[in-house]
Amino acid sequence: MSVDTVIVTGGASGVGRALVGRLLDADMTVITCDIDEPGLKSLADEHRGRPLDTHVTDVASHEECDAFMDRVLAAHPGVNGLVNNAGLYLGRPVQDYDDATIERVIAVNIKGPVWLSRRFAAHLLPAERRGAIVNLASVAGEVGSSDALYGTVKAGVIGLTKSNAMNFAPYIRVNVVSPGLIVNTAIADRIPDYRYAEYKRQEQLDGDILPEYVADVCAYLLSDRSRILTGALLRADNGSYPR
Ligand SMILES: NC(=O)c1ccc[n+]([C@@H]2O[C@H](COP(=O)([O-])OP(=O)(O)OC[C@H]3O[C@@H](n4cnc5c(N)ncnc54)[C@H](O)[C@@H]3O)[C@@H](O)[C@H]2O)c1
Repeated sequence: MSVDTVIVTGGASGVGRALVGRLLDADMTVITCDIDEPGLKSLADEHRGRPLDTHVTDVASHEECDAFMDRVLAAHPGVNGLVNNAGLYLGRPVQDYDDATIERVIAVNIKGPVWLSRRFAAHLLPAERRGAIVNLASVAGEVGSSDALYGTVKAGVIGLTKSNAMNFAPYIRVNVVSPGLIVNTAIADRIPDYRYAEYKRQEQLDGDILPEYVADVCAYLLSDRSRILTGALLRADNGSYPR
């Protein structure tokens, strides 16, 4: 069963924005949330007349995640896809973090996906309905990062994926995409120059990794063509850091 009604977090820019467009092009209904209200408005303007529902929601807040899911499940009870895409990368060494910032990075990148995945599964599993979750990790979660908090949370996203694949089997497939350096994104702009150059030097394929290309991998993992994959990690990285 391919999904037809999908939640994408962080849809206002980057990979999330590209994925919203890809899924709408495939005639799906898309629900997205973001903290970037102007970004959501321009997204809604871009796709006016198409089945797109936008919500201002901070995935780092348990209350806001619950209120968002209440609205989504009431308006779209047939929802069967979830992409935990929203992410926060600050690009600083661990010594430069205060406790509040540590909490924020963990909440956006880990707690939000945990809360949303749990609500999504609690909606589908009792009815034995099938669905798919795609999480966004990073090469940083596999080989380390000059930002230790980011490396930590992205490794956590990989663990969450494999574990939720077990928790939600056999009805909900849960897979993770691990991108390299995605150009034209706010996150790429925050990568220290020396690390940006190292990422580019590591790539085996020529051509940049665009948000649209990462969105294609996410769309594949939502589709039936990946029907035998769960708990799987797909790299979207031009072959960098072979591992
Ligand atoms: N850009 C890269 O080079 C890169 C590399 C590897 C992995 N990733 C991961 O891919 C995913 C997408 O990244 P991107 O490059 O498109 O980033 P981006 O910064 O362009 O987009 C992320 C979106 O998430 C939203 N967001 C941030 N915090 C939020 C919150 N608390 N609640 C709701 N929305 C929030 C932002 O407003 C933004 O619209 C992220 O999980 C990121 O960590 C990115």
